[in-house]
Amino acid sequence: MKRETWKSQFGFVFAAIGSAVGLANIWRFPYLVGKNGGAAFVFLYLMCLLVIGLPTFLAEVTLGRKAKRNPAGTFRKIGGKGWGWMGAIMVLTALIVSSFYSVVAGWILGYCVQGFKGVLHTFETIEQPVHLFQNLTSSASWSLSYHFIFLLLCVLFLMGGVRKGIERGSVILMPLLFVILCFLVIKGLFLPNSEKGLDFLFSPDWSVITPSVFLLALGQAFFTLSIGQGTMITYGSYLSQKSHLPKSSFPIILGDTLVSLLGAIAIFTIAFSVNIEPTSGEGLLFQTLPVVFSQLPGGYFLAVGFFVLVFLAAITSEISALEVVISYLIDEWKFKRKAAVLLSALVAFALGVPSALAFGSLGDISIFGYNLLGCADYLATNILIPLGGLFAVLLFAWKWGVPKALSHMRLGAEGLFDRHRWFRFYLIVSIKFIAPLIIILIFLQAIGVF
Ligand code: PHE
Repeated sequence: MKRETWKSQFGFVFAAIGSAVGLANIWRFPYLVGKNGGAAFVFLYLMCLLVIGLPTFLAEVTLGRKAKRNPAGTFRKIGGKGWGWMGAIMVLTALIVSSFYSVVAGWILGYCVQGFKGVLHTFETIEQPVHLFQNLTSSASWSLSYHFIFLLLCVLFLMGGVRKGIERGSVILMPLLFVILCFLVIKGLFLPNSEKGLDFLFSPDWSVITPSVFLLALGQAFFTLSIGQGTMITYGSYLSQKSHLPKSSFPIILGDTLVSLLGAIAIFTIAFSVNIEPTSGEGLLFQTLPVVFSQLPGGYFLAVGFFVLVFLAAITSEISALEVVISYLIDEWKFKRKAAVLLSALVAFALGVPSALAFGSLGDISIFGYNLLGCADYLATNILIPLGGLFAVLLFAWKWGVPKALSHMRLGAEGLFDRHRWFRFYLIVSIKFIAPLIIILIFLQAIGVF
């Protein structure tokens, strides 16, 4: 069977931005910044992107373009038989991510419906949205139905294939996301007290920067770029040999960072306009913001706009996580695309059931202090994803070898490599030495070695 390809490099950029921009940008980034030193954290995060994020991202896309396979096949083809299991772990990570991610994204979809119904801007006390959240998420039927409907929507896109489903969907949905985001930012900036929100967000507090904050910044950089779990290997495998890898990676990383920053500006200016400090962690989206929307003129549109925005961000990310599993089933087990889509969505649904019940009937189960959803999240974000990133840079720099790997990356990007010699040096130092070393450190920290 002939492997599918992107219609254009531009389409790849949009699909990859769709994957990168997700819950992590709008749900996680703002409160990480708010809690961990404002601009100091932003600075640290940008450094992590530059020193490890971008090089690892490029390494994954290059591996995929070279092998033209799913992650397991890529590792086997480039590294030999003994390396295949590492790629298989990445596929498994993608499956775990797609299972719990779809549960949270399902809640977002459910909240879009609540927003349309006019429920999310009519709260009179701070407790009301908390109760709503508890009532909804503890209901097995609500949580499971939206988990299912969300996956079904992903299936509709994925059935269309790489060009007509993923690429076309991203090219339409991403600009829409950007328009809604700009609308929210402008609205936020024109509200009273917006300067307080900006101040809180951007004034640096270096005293809170500790090694664990550094690790948070690094984990965020990995998760938000969708690296470490095979997505970028898979998306890279649909690229033509003529594509310019660095040139298509820069806008992806810039676009992702821009959305994180704009999302944070929107959330902080809107929240500070009614004097609510949005440092309430994961409750931010479902509990804090609805109180804010209730106190602002045009709250209905803000609530709807906000949740639709997050929904758009989440669906293109979920699609990219499932595509890893789909490409694995097609390449390794000779599935037809339709069957592969259905099977991977079904397994993601089943694996997500414990997470969907984690706030209800399975709420009493706690593992290392996390409920089942938190546990899946922790396992994927803090352990499996850094591990996958480590596998990718090791394969790239230590097994395939820097000279061969970079000469493949250079194809299509000869001008850049020849004109800017430092670029080669930067890649070698970061992919071969800095990235593996720092990822090993995060990993050891995550499993509690220090
Ligand atoms: N990058 C996505 C986000 O920021 C998360 C994600 C990770 C999606 C891995 C797919 C694969 O939310």
